[in-house]
Amino acid sequence: MRVGLDFGTTNSSAAIYDGDTLRLLPLDPVNASPSILRSTLFITREGAAYIGREAINRFTEGNVGREIEYEWKYIGDAEVTFADFGTVQQALYIQVDANAPGRLFQSLKTGLRDRSFTRTNVFGTYYTLEELIAMVLRMILDRVAASVGEPVTGMVLGRPVHYSSDPAADALAFERMQTACSMAGLPEVTFLEEPTAAALSYARSSRGRAQNVLVFDFGGGTLDVTIMRLDGSGRRELLATDGVPVGGDLLDQRLVMGRLLRHFGEGTTLGPRRLPFPTHVLDHLNEWQAIVELTQPHYLNIIDEAIVIGDRPNELRALRSLVRQNYGLPLYEAVEGAKVRLSEHESTVLAMQMGEINFAERIPRWDFERLIGPDVRAVEACIDRALESAALTPDTIDVVLRTGGSSRVPRFVRMLSDKFGADKLQEMDVFTGVASGLAIAAWEREPYSKLPDA
Ligand SMILES: Nc1ncnc2c1ncn2[C@@H]1O[C@H](COP(=O)(O)OP(=O)(O)OP(=O)(O)O)[C@@H](O)[C@H]1O
Ligand SMILES: [Mg+2]
Repeated sequence: MRVGLDFGTTNSSAAIYDGDTLRLLPLDPVNASPSILRSTLFITREGAAYIGREAINRFTEGNVGREIEYEWKYIGDAEVTFADFGTVQQALYIQVDANAPGRLFQSLKTGLRDRSFTRTNVFGTYYTLEELIAMVLRMILDRVAASVGEPVTGMVLGRPVHYSSDPAADALAFERMQTACSMAGLPEVTFLEEPTAAALSYARSSRGRAQNVLVFDFGGGTLDVTIMRLDGSGRRELLATDGVPVGGDLLDQRLVMGRLLRHFGEGTTLGPRRLPFPTHVLDHLNEWQAIVELTQPHYLNIIDEAIVIGDRPNELRALRSLVRQNYGLPLYEAVEGAKVRLSEHESTVLAMQMGEINFAERIPRWDFERLIGPDVRAVEACIDRALESAALTPDTIDVVLRTGGSSRVPRFVRMLSDKFGADKLQEMDVFTGVASGLAIAAWEREPYSKLPDA
């Protein structure tokens, strides 16, 4: 059996197709929609691994709200040379969190394009990024095999059109993804660009009408575009693909950095000379994983001192609580929730009461749209490039398919309807459209660069 697998930045799903019926596979029994698996990984101190909703639950139970306690850990000896004494052997100790039960990873796919993310230390064991992704893929493969009930002989995996705008980082990302697949022991893997997969899925269900289709696949990590011509009799022609590393994670960051920093000490001045609180500390709030870095004693000392001599002690206590009690994940979950509500409502309250953190911000949709202005422009430029490379104008596009969770953000829907006309927009299975198309490609067994006749 050949399987389509969409390993997404935020969510993964898998499907099979037999030429007639498409079936989404249950990848996460704990999730409200079992065919959607959150692309998360939790590794315990003992080295046990969990994925999906269970990974988040285990992390939350064991870590969130727990005070970090440090102990000194011996890591080796070093030779230190002093001008007056000569060289001496010195034992090296670092302070480590003594009780953390495990580490949670999210958005691992985004790490692929990040040259500096090579390996990470999980309770003394080093894992490369490829190994972490391979662990997730291996567990997905086991679940796929269990649910199809026969050996998996081949897989078609999705890939963004561009992991990164920098060609070298893009090539590196794809190479690392291939390495992860082979480490995971996935059988016979081929890759297909994600929006092209979504276009295949649409093509299957829309015979009879010649049309130019533009797929707008806007996920957690990337925006991907495919333009395809369908001739109405089943023939398909791939006209253009393009993509940019803009996704829902970035939209969440815009909210945190644009609206929430003042609740964590932004603008604080220190002491009688009113020195500014170092901004590089708050830069860590940019990503929830980076908040964890602030648990290093060096940063905690800066924060503790600022609580004593700064003019905003309550906000700085909130920052300390965010860091020391691991509230980074719930912060980002609250932000994502507010963003999702803003897709339905003109305004929402983004609030958090945990530990010393206590704020409620009313965020009108127009303000969110102001914060994501640069991203809207980057996305629109990407669509324009794709149209140009397909030698088409917006009026020659017949259908615009919106897929991926971020394609529900009203600002992007508006941009698309301004460009193409509201009547051309269609939403397709936002979280599973890509996996369905990958399953069709897996069944067709054709190389993706040369799209076959259906
Ligand atoms: N109703 C909504 N409004 C706005 N954003 C949403 C909505 N629902 C989900 N999202 C966002 O969509 C993103 C996840 O979408 P999706 O599952 O399509 O991404 P992915 O396939 O995992 O990522 P990628 O394709 O970029 O690798 C998240 O950032 C999530 O916050
Ligand atoms: Mg996706």
